[in-house]
Amino acid sequence: MTIDNRLFAFICIIAITLSPVSAVALDAPALYHERTCIACHGSNGREPAMDEYPKLAGQSEEYLLTQMKDIKSGSRSNAHSIAMKNVMHLISDEEMSVLAKWLAKLPE
Ligand code: HEC
Repeated sequence: MTIDNRLFAFICIIAITLSPVSAVALDAPALYHERTCIACHGSNGREPAMDEYPKLAGQSEEYLLTQMKDIKSGSRSNAHSIAMKNVMHLISDEEMSVLAKWLAKLPE
């Protein structure tokens, strides 16, 4: 009985290890909180921390994605974008896509 339980636990661990982690890791609202986007762009991309910071909710997905990539790469660079650039090394291309898709669907 004990061995069966151990075997079952082992199989569960293997199954969890092999299952796609992206389902959990790429939850857009969680990413938005964890990667500190919320600190500057506010709740649901609608309440920026400063008047000079942009609202993100409801903008086109393609636009949002391009801006994130440009800020990360430094193509878009000014006194304010520097603050965001400092966190963008933590964000992968896949995560940017997930965030852009989610933000575009939020009501303005
Ligand atoms: C430290 C503050 C800060 C953090 C953290 C931050 N941003 Fe930004 N973000 C800005 C500022 C400021 C701008 C506008 C820069 C400019 O004026 O060019 C901006 C611009 C953007 C834009 C372009 C918006 C537009 O209308 O052109 C997008 C998209 C964006 N941020 C998404 C994010 C996401 C997603 C995260 C989290 C991964 C994030 N930002 C984290 C401050 C921040």
